[in-house]
Amino acid sequence: MPDFQKIPSNDVIDTLLKRVSVRKFTDEQISDETLDLILKTSFRAPTSSNIQAYSVVVVRDQEKLDALAAASGGQRHVAQAPVFLAFCADISRIEDALVRNGHSIDSNNLETGLVSAIDAALVGMSAYLVADSLGIKGVMIGGARNKPHEVAHILGLPQRVFCVFGMSLGWPAEAPAQKPRMDYDGLVHFEQYGKSRSGADAKKVVDDYDVALAEHYRGQGRQTTDASWSDDMDKKFHPWLRDDLRERLKELGFDFR
Ligand SMILES: Cc1cc2nc3c(=O)[nH]c(=O)nc-3n(C[C@H](O)[C@H](O)[C@H](O)COP(=O)(O)O)c2cc1C
Repeated sequence: MPDFQKIPSNDVIDTLLKRVSVRKFTDEQISDETLDLILKTSFRAPTSSNIQAYSVVVVRDQEKLDALAAASGGQRHVAQAPVFLAFCADISRIEDALVRNGHSIDSNNLETGLVSAIDAALVGMSAYLVADSLGIKGVMIGGARNKPHEVAHILGLPQRVFCVFGMSLGWPAEAPAQKPRMDYDGLVHFEQYGKSRSGADAKKVVDDYDVALAEHYRGQGRQTTDASWSDDMDKKFHPWLRDDLRERLKELGFDFR
């Protein structure tokens, strides 16, 4: 086993420790070769039972980028970035395998939906890290689930494929300050949930983070309340976000039952 104390950093650690979402880009394109490298590398991510239940749609066409920006809630950076990668859960190849064996995927279930979405997320995060390590920055776009049908139409997705999230990538034209994260002690438990190294209680973790995030936002000149994170979460999830998603995904061939 390596002695971690003696390894202060390496490329992966450095890339992750410096990472931040970027939403402003120069006009410079990302070459096909670089994108191929990013995606081929990301496909080495682990995949549940080797199902490889993902597909990626690469979008550069400005009209499509504009349409995706609109479908994702009017996010300007989606239209401005030179590339949008749609990370899709794709169970169409599994369907083929089942049909070949005389079975149907018609009443697929929550597990099918979850494993394919997890697969897509692992590939997406891997691609994001490889891109970042090359100096290409960006932001993931969960807004691609706002209107799953519209996004499916723009991307020409067949049944059994849906865009789990998108990713806008480009060469950075900004270097935002990193958002703080919650206290390590509140997120890591030893042997049993609730047993942190310092014994910090969950409420204190949130209270401290509310203050830290409020300070961060004020430092950026952004308006916030003192209970910054708690109030953000309340706004985001009350009323429930994308409450029709299950029905929409069912129409696209994912049952989540
Ligand atoms: C799955 C996922 C979806 C996201 N969707 C969006 C999005 O639609 N628009 C956006 O501007 N940022 C989006 N983000 C970026 C988050 O807002 C960002 O990661 C978070 O606020 C933390 O900031 P940081 O990445 O700079 O540390 C998304 C991130 C993830 C992981």
